[in-house]
Amino acid sequence: MRAYDIIYKKRNGRKLSKEEISFMVDGYNYGKIADYQMSAFLMAVYFQSLDDEETFALTETMAKSGEILDLIFLDGPTADKHSTGGVGDGTSLLIAPILAACDVYVPMMSGRALGHTGGTLDKLEAVPGFNVNLDKEKFIEVLKKNKFAMIGQTKEVAPADKKMYALRDVTATVESIPLICSSIMSKKIAEGAKNILLDVKTGNAAFMQKYEDAKLLAQKMVQAGKMFGRNMCAVITDMDEPLGNAAGNSLEVIQTLEVLKNKIENDFSDLSFDLSAYILVQTGISENFEAARNKVKEKISSGQALEKFIKMIELQNGNTKVVDDYSVFGKAQNIYKITAHENGYLKYVNTRNIGIAACLLGAGRLKTEDKVDPVSGIIFNKKSGDKVCKNDVLFELHYNKADIKSVVEILNTSYIISGGKQEKIKFIKEIID
Ligand code: URA
Repeated sequence: MRAYDIIYKKRNGRKLSKEEISFMVDGYNYGKIADYQMSAFLMAVYFQSLDDEETFALTETMAKSGEILDLIFLDGPTADKHSTGGVGDGTSLLIAPILAACDVYVPMMSGRALGHTGGTLDKLEAVPGFNVNLDKEKFIEVLKKNKFAMIGQTKEVAPADKKMYALRDVTATVESIPLICSSIMSKKIAEGAKNILLDVKTGNAAFMQKYEDAKLLAQKMVQAGKMFGRNMCAVITDMDEPLGNAAGNSLEVIQTLEVLKNKIENDFSDLSFDLSAYILVQTGISENFEAARNKVKEKISSGQALEKFIKMIELQNGNTKVVDDYSVFGKAQNIYKITAHENGYLKYVNTRNIGIAACLLGAGRLKTEDKVDPVSGIIFNKKSGDKVCKNDVLFELHYNKADIKSVVEILNTSYIISGGKQEKIKFIKEIID
């Protein structure tokens, strides 16, 4: 077999066999196929796509490029949740301790912020000392002790995806449904949880801006997971406005702590509670959604989910003082307030730009090597559909070092205030299982 012939075949729109796909992926993983050949292969897939059989073969080969964790020794259900990413989308931080408090094991491996989207690992690292780089043994130890652990992808998990994703990122081949499906699902399958919930975002600040694309991706990922014997559920959710009231690393952890302390409720907590409830039904812990939702609320009001969160910080070497004293996170040197220039109703019209603005304030990164500033970001005092009066503070921009004039310019193109009453956004659009 030759890489050239496989690239040629896909370039001309022909179907590849499982052996040909494995030849490319394994060859690349072991350094036998060069970057330029894998780039050409990925571009051929981008234009010619893959059918279901090819997509599943790619998913399987990438999942098997490393170790597939076997969590059978755990004495309870296992669940994982993955979001395709957005602005203010920190639901994992809340869902994992809630599920752990409901006796579900959550072995969660997450990613970092890139471009306009945030990343769970950067949020966790806003807690001073927090270690997201546990090796497999320590990860399992924490999981056994506290029922959940939150770390970055270990070197054992789908190494071929790690290499291929880095290449896709610089060759404009990310936005391909079969490539995204196999990339996400190879990792989820390798991570070993039996129940997987996918939060597939759609809208202006999502990977899949068009609803039909988000739905197709969700369907493919559900099918792929089922092929590997996993219980699958995908939820298509809105990313036309930021989720919750904060985008930024420590700001989102503080918001999570406020929810865990039962002090606030907002669209971020609502969506997180709903997703947790779907997982409780999926795992068989609760009989139906209503019972599951009540259980989730009980874990918040009793403080059990908060306890789990604190224990995770402790087990992963973070400073637990942050829980009672938010000043331990540190504070941004500057806060710039954007106020309403007239009376009316707010509507977000470009949430992608809001994500970019948060990134430019220091909360995210434009390139994988960039460093994030844990304390910078944006507080959203108003959400779409909220009534605003002239001079009300709409956004607070927290930053240490930024070109604030251009950030404000970007933000000013991302919302409108109009006289007509706006509908509140409904975050959950469809469930696919
Ligand atoms: N996230 C992933 O892990 N892979 C993709 O291809 C896209 C988003």
